[in-house]
Amino acid sequence: MSSDIRAHLDERVLVVTLDRPAKRNAITAEMYAAMARAIERARLEDEVNVVLLRGEGGNFTSGNDIGLFVSSDGAAHAESPAVPFLRAVLSLGKPMVACVRGHAVGIGATVLLHCDYVVASDDARLRFPFVDLGLCPEFASTLLLQRVVGRTKAAEWLLLGSQVPAAEAFLAGLVNRVMPPELAEEEALSIAKRLAAKPQQALRATRALIRDADDESASARVRRESAVFDGLRRSDEAQDIFKRFLGRQPEAIAARA
Ligand code: COA
Repeated sequence: MSSDIRAHLDERVLVVTLDRPAKRNAITAEMYAAMARAIERARLEDEVNVVLLRGEGGNFTSGNDIGLFVSSDGAAHAESPAVPFLRAVLSLGKPMVACVRGHAVGIGATVLLHCDYVVASDDARLRFPFVDLGLCPEFASTLLLQRVVGRTKAAEWLLLGSQVPAAEAFLAGLVNRVMPPELAEEEALSIAKRLAAKPQQALRATRALIRDADDESASARVRRESAVFDGLRRSDEAQDIFKRFLGRQPEAIAARA
């Protein structure tokens, strides 16, 4: 497992921690691979009933490491390293809980659409920065976000890419609970353990029924988004933005506020 991803079992909850705080838990290819392995382990192992996703250092994650999008020879990866992680989440078949503190950017926001319960700290802010990066949204968020929060809000969040405070995400229905940071971790673990202690056959069957229509269309939407995303990622427009971010020019990502 990547040293930037830690996973440990707490009762029947597999706690998966993004642990790269100096980079706000930006996710590298190795971290994606380690997260995919952890989720796959959770799917296969009987002693795991629930996955809890969290970040170290007061932030959930700043999303894809932008360095992933730029390659030294100008050629982009054939398949995003995020894809095995996305597939693992879509086929998990067990509940996933997230504890969101601080920044939840990009996949840090879109992964919440695949969680069964989201606890956010009151200092949490979500952002879908894809358009500002010259990209399109991923992880079926172009489909699922409007189902969860309605088309008007989904369009606002995905097109403008402004920060969404935890309170707004809660009112819109993307987040289940908002709490002070010091209580959020405790609450997320407590919810995960409550789910882990339920009759699992009934829990998983109910979860599958709730998600049925979403799961079928989400996989297809992930493939469609990936094709558009990859084309955009290779474009001069996007490559310029990535290079400017990595060169720390603040105008690289226009809409931070
Ligand atoms: N990819 C690569 N590096 C990242 C990163 C990312 N997604 N997010 C943060 N970092 C790095 C910064 O380059 C910086 O590195 P340095 O210390 O070597 O200069 C370090 O993490 C701290 O980032 P900084 O911007 O100084 O922290 P902040 O607390 O002021 O702001 C964010 C946090 C998340 C708002 C800001 O880092 C950000 O907007 N990151 C980009 C998010 C993004 O667009 N992700 C892509 C999603 S598809």
